[in-house]
Amino acid sequence: MILNTQITTNMTKLILILVLEVLLLATVTSAEDAGEFARTMNKKQLSLQKKEKLTYLRFYWHDSVKGRNPSATRIKEPVSNSTMFGSMTMMDDALTTDVSRNSSVVGQAQGFYAGAAQGEISYLVVMNFAFKTGKYNGSTLAVFGRDPVISSKVREMPIVGGSGIFRLARGYVEARTNLSDVKAGKAIVQYSCYVLHY
Ligand SMILES: *[C@@H]1O[C@H](CO)[C@@H](O)[C@H](O)[C@H]1NC(C)=O
Ligand SMILES: *[C@@H]1O[C@H](CO)[C@@H](O)[C@H](O)[C@H]1NC(C)=O
Ligand SMILES: *[C@@H]1O[C@H](CO)[C@@H](O)[C@H](O)[C@H]1NC(C)=O
Ligand SMILES: *[C@@H]1O[C@H](CO)[C@@H](O)[C@H](O)[C@H]1NC(C)=O
Repeated sequence: MILNTQITTNMTKLILILVLEVLLLATVTSAEDAGEFARTMNKKQLSLQKKEKLTYLRFYWHDSVKGRNPSATRIKEPVSNSTMFGSMTMMDDALTTDVSRNSSVVGQAQGFYAGAAQGEISYLVVMNFAFKTGKYNGSTLAVFGRDPVISSKVREMPIVGGSGIFRLARGYVEARTNLSDVKAGKAIVQYSCYVLHY
């Protein structure tokens, strides 16, 4: 009997402690809520209830690190000239409608590519496509990917976001080299982009 009573008392204490802890937790949570820095929104307020569209874009990327008007600059020399590992090049490269540099410019590729592999030439590419024509003027697409320029004819890189028309974009690009002249420091790459956005 005595033992039983003790057990019951202990149980009561335990329950009391648990209840107090739950109450404390609730107080802390509501104190956090009082900050009101975040809330759930209705998608309609940002027109996000619509179905996503798929847009296809194709343009040519012109990179030049030498000559009179280079569009890119080496900001870090590689630790290995054969793989370009450790190099970093900042670019502001024109994007044109056709393979000729004289064709219409639709935007700029702004960002960098960095030698990121020790066994081959493969770059980490981080760039924004900043468009400047028609309804795309002012909108951007953000690319973040791996570019093994020699070993792959077609390099797929993710589109991780965008702005303006491309707000909340996701998708991928396919990069195909049209010209790579190491001596002249020039490269032309065709970009095919598949973009889901609202
Ligand atoms: C890479 O080549 C450049 C130009 O030929 C040379 O100046 C540099 O020392 C080389 N770097 C390495 C790590 O071999
Ligand atoms: C672009 O046009 C200029 C002048 O019209 C010409 O000299 C040049 O060769 C052209 N470049 C290309 C890549 O077609
Ligand atoms: C693009 O937008 C900029 C800034 O609003 C403006 O100055 C420029 O004229 C526009 N370009 C085109 C081709 O519409
Ligand atoms: C550029 O490369 C793409 C893909 O390989 C090819 O379809 C296209 O014909 C090339 N264009 C020129 C002008 O070389």
